[in-house]
Amino acid sequence: MRPAPPELHAEAHHVLRDQPRHQVELFELRLDRWWQDLDDALTAVYGPAAADLERRLVRMAATAFAERSPDLHRLDLQRTLDPGWFQDESMLGYACYADRFAGDLTAVAGKIDYLRELGVTYLHLMPLLQPRDGDNDGGYAVADYRRVRTDLGTMDDLQALAAELRKAGISLVMDLVLNHVAAEHAWAQAARDGDPHYRDYFYVFPDRTEPDRYEQTLPEVFPDFAPGSFTHSPELDGWVWTTFNSWQWDVNWTNPDVFAEYADIVLFLANQGVQVLRLDAIAFVFKRMGTNCQNQPEVHAITQALRAVARIACPAVLFKAEAIVAPQDLVHYLGQGAHHGKVSDIAYHNSLMVQIWSMLAAQDATLAAHALRAIPPVPATTTWVTYARCHDDIGWAIDAADAAAVGLNGFEHQRFLSDYYSGLYPGSPARGLVFQENPDTGDRRISGTAASLSGLDAMTAPADADLVVGRLFLAHAIIMGWGGIPVVWMGDEIAMSNDPHWAEEPGHGDDNRWAHRPRMDWDRAQQRGDSSTVPGRVFAGLRHLVRTRSALPHLQASVAAEVPLLSDPGVLPVLRRHPLGPLLELFNVTADWRPFPGWRLAEYGLTGARDALSGEHIHPGSDGNVWLHPYGVLWLVPE
Ligand code: GLC
Repeated sequence: MRPAPPELHAEAHHVLRDQPRHQVELFELRLDRWWQDLDDALTAVYGPAAADLERRLVRMAATAFAERSPDLHRLDLQRTLDPGWFQDESMLGYACYADRFAGDLTAVAGKIDYLRELGVTYLHLMPLLQPRDGDNDGGYAVADYRRVRTDLGTMDDLQALAAELRKAGISLVMDLVLNHVAAEHAWAQAARDGDPHYRDYFYVFPDRTEPDRYEQTLPEVFPDFAPGSFTHSPELDGWVWTTFNSWQWDVNWTNPDVFAEYADIVLFLANQGVQVLRLDAIAFVFKRMGTNCQNQPEVHAITQALRAVARIACPAVLFKAEAIVAPQDLVHYLGQGAHHGKVSDIAYHNSLMVQIWSMLAAQDATLAAHALRAIPPVPATTTWVTYARCHDDIGWAIDAADAAAVGLNGFEHQRFLSDYYSGLYPGSPARGLVFQENPDTGDRRISGTAASLSGLDAMTAPADADLVVGRLFLAHAIIMGWGGIPVVWMGDEIAMSNDPHWAEEPGHGDDNRWAHRPRMDWDRAQQRGDSSTVPGRVFAGLRHLVRTRSALPHLQASVAAEVPLLSDPGVLPVLRRHPLGPLLELFNVTADWRPFPGWRLAEYGLTGARDALSGEHIHPGSDGNVWLHPYGVLWLVPE
């Protein structure tokens, strides 16, 4: 560990000259502790320009530290004493839009009891900073990082909400959209006004020469409503990089000023009481000709440097990577090689999500078992967000080699999944919508709520309800049994279906992801105590999973999930070997009864086993098997 040079300590001293002695010491200890992470990473990205940037960052970090509230300083200490707090088996996440869930920020506080009833300890409020007017990609086109969306409240309201959540044991999670800003953001406006300083905040090309060269290897994110990755701007007299929509301008992270801006935004949000920052579309922040411009090594260096700044000023804050990329790339977001322990603490387990829906459609766990087993291990200090659904579409991230290894054609399987979940496949009960059909690649992504994908809208007989409830329970049992932070998407806990009016709201008409971002149906939520209704059964099932989970230390996230060999293609086994003993989970992904051989329980030290979910003792029957009912789940621990 290389400590910070004396002149930077002097900078910090200068900023902190009025602070109590012990606070100054604390800051300096942290500066030395994280200096090498910061310096190594910035040097890798900015070369000789790093030194000046570092001086600015130390001043910024010291200023933010001095301004941080006593409450948050206390939280910093608490978290540094218990750095694995977010890996606890009692963690449960919930994600929603503040307005669609409750109305505004103050009203969200009024729903804390509801969240606690479910067991929520982590609340991801979808983008709530001031976006551009009109279509803004659900808030992912930020026009002002220091203002709350007017209809949701003010920064003071956000601070107050964060404090109330903290009191209730809930950590506030917010997006940091750092790949792009709205074309209406002040930086973009200044660039259009001809300020060369701000023009350098973006990638602007005088003509199509370079954009054309880049586009040879760039995939399109929104081929349907935003084809291409560059947009012409008459005011700039050039082409600006726009990976997503034409009004989302990619910022230029090769510019150290851009780094300084975002470091300051991180510190600002941290001081409002945000505990986890979701690094939106982080895979895209660094571009390289001849590549797909995702997952470049500099992405991890940039994350490491931002993280070091946060650790110096506000160590309670964690980073969560939103990188929807292939498993081999994904694990780098949790720190591999030199970045081990230095980047994000949390990342979305996109593969698990995709495999859940794949298993349910195929009624077969063979591919999932192979694909999940192939994911390289991640550091024990990090964890996954596991989720069945989120606010985005589902892209069928099935690796062709994984598919081939189990005798499937990856492309055909993807086609089957798109057909199945859009309801085209004969007999499919799913009612999703096709998102961003790409005729060039044959790609069809899928929108839809968990309930609509599970058959809720296609029920014809009362017995169908059992299947729908079974699929929803199974999907959530898998995410809660994997280890990590399971996150429930708003409305899934009461089996809400697609919003039939999704296209009617201004700016939403082109983007059917709004179908699975309904407004919370509080009337439906009233039925959550009624076990004769679908919402009641689903809510009770999820709550039971959460409670059971929080009493099982085996589910602490530092323990890795293993996928043992399958005995029956319809039963996915997941094993967690904890020093306290094994936990073997069995998931029947089919609508039939399926067996698991009793002799295999002995292999795991489970000769006498208890199902933690039902409390029942599990003994093989006369045929030597343990039988699982349709979509049945067993979480087996030694008696
Ligand atoms: C992330 C968000 C998605 C958004 C995109 C661009 O992937 O989850 O909703 O469209 O980033 O910001």
